[in-house]
Amino acid sequence: MKKKNKRRIKITGTGFYVPDKVLTNLDLEKIVDTSDEWITSRTGIKERRIASDDQATSDLSIEASRMALENAGLKAKDIDLIIVATSSPDTILPSTGCWVQKGLGAGNIPAFDISAGCTGWIYGMIVAEGLILNGAHKRILLIGSEVLTRITNWKDRNTCVLFGDAGSAVVLEESDDESGMLSSYWGADGNLGNLLYMPGGGTRIPASAESVTQDLHCIHMKGNDVFKHAVKRMGEASLEALKSAGLEKEDIDYLIPHQANSRIIDATGRRLKVPSEKVFTNIHKYGNVSVASIPLGLHELWEEGKLKKGTIVVMVAFGAGFTWAAVAYRW
Ligand SMILES: CC(C)(COP(=O)(O)OP(=O)(O)OC[C@H]1O[C@@H](n2cnc3c(N)ncnc32)[C@H](O)[C@@H]1OP(=O)(O)O)[C@@H](O)C(=O)NCCC(=O)NCCS
Repeated sequence: MKKKNKRRIKITGTGFYVPDKVLTNLDLEKIVDTSDEWITSRTGIKERRIASDDQATSDLSIEASRMALENAGLKAKDIDLIIVATSSPDTILPSTGCWVQKGLGAGNIPAFDISAGCTGWIYGMIVAEGLILNGAHKRILLIGSEVLTRITNWKDRNTCVLFGDAGSAVVLEESDDESGMLSSYWGADGNLGNLLYMPGGGTRIPASAESVTQDLHCIHMKGNDVFKHAVKRMGEASLEALKSAGLEKEDIDYLIPHQANSRIIDATGRRLKVPSEKVFTNIHKYGNVSVASIPLGLHELWEEGKLKKGTIVVMVAFGAGFTWAAVAYRW
């Protein structure tokens, strides 16, 4: 499903937070049968951050939100809705959004979570756009945060080398000029759900001593299959978003793909014919931080002064579900 906008929403502040603890590939060599060489050449990842024992997803979210609010020149009381995209909530109920609302002291504004795998933050942009443009909300805090290392199987070398923890947040408001979200495209294929999932802990396989022994509360993934679908869907979604915005591939100033694997990132860039210097990547520093990866990229580009008025950015993600989505955005 695609959409082109006349009225638009825009990002008025960005923020991020990563835990202090760094886990390098060399550290991982001591945990599972792997090597820095394998991880670097197959994924591009050199190190990732690990939340401390007393940090949950809302804690990372709150830190990132404070920075985003400050960069927007706002206080927590100025926002009127909190949306948290995450696959690693503090608790199944209540939502991480409610823990964040409490932590920020944001008053009794509504708060909820979006679950769409690594695509959750872009899904959140599309949901927030609808809520702002239909007049229901004026200022939305959209967070993408994960503590994936808590649902990682540290005995499984196929997955444990990939993930990291990070929080990110943006403030969204209606745009009063030409800048903002130009178009979007989103999709999902539930038939492929069991290629990337956490089987246990829900109502299908409730938590039990047996489910824990079998590591069912961890991420299970068929990496090769995920890889192929990710490359195909991220390319398609980006092209659809561009088309809806009336833009060509050549118009892209920056492509911010979800940071899952440097080979997926490179393949998406090649498919869109975007030169490598315009394809954002920070996977070497943080690994796959799921929903946090794109807003974190946006924040880094903004901080480096690369987002000028008029800069065209395409953001695209793929994740569990499978889900995929892209947004074309004029800074
Ligand atoms: C996971 C991924 C890095 C694996 O890379 P790959 O090139 O597809 O590797 P394969 O799965 O084919 O495995 C190749 C070999 O490396 C081995 N291997 C897997 N993980 C390893 C590790 N950490 N260290 C060393 N060897 C490893 C496998 O066991 C396999 O060995 P075998 O041939 O003896 O069976 C890659 O498939 C990937 O990134 N997939 C997408 C993951 C993703 O993006 N997930 C989140 C989506 S949002």
